[in-house]
Amino acid sequence: MGQYRHHVFVCSFGKTCEKAGGVDVFRAMKQEAREAGLGDSVRINKSGCMNQCGHGPMVVVYPQDVWYCGVDASGGRRIVREHLVDGEIVEGFRYVAPPGDNKLVDED
Ligand code: FES
Repeated sequence: MGQYRHHVFVCSFGKTCEKAGGVDVFRAMKQEAREAGLGDSVRINKSGCMNQCGHGPMVVVYPQDVWYCGVDASGGRRIVREHLVDGEIVEGFRYVAPPGDNKLVDED
């Protein structure tokens, strides 16, 4: 096991996810994790573009390598409660796509 039970990345700096509210998702997830008492067991980071532009805001949870798309603040809170706390994947936001880049719009 690594340093954290879960390590979460929220696309917040890329052009499309940032416009779609990625920072709001990040803040909501951090607050929910605090309220859920997850403490140091979970690390939630802002990230740059994940090359899935147009599907976001994107969230990925490791070590399970589960990807979420179109996440809003409410969805981010659900991911914390249902995935990080209860261990259940939030199917309504789950992202399934071919491996690699899957941009609907160009980041640059
Ligand atoms: S800006 Fe988020 S995936 Fe590209």
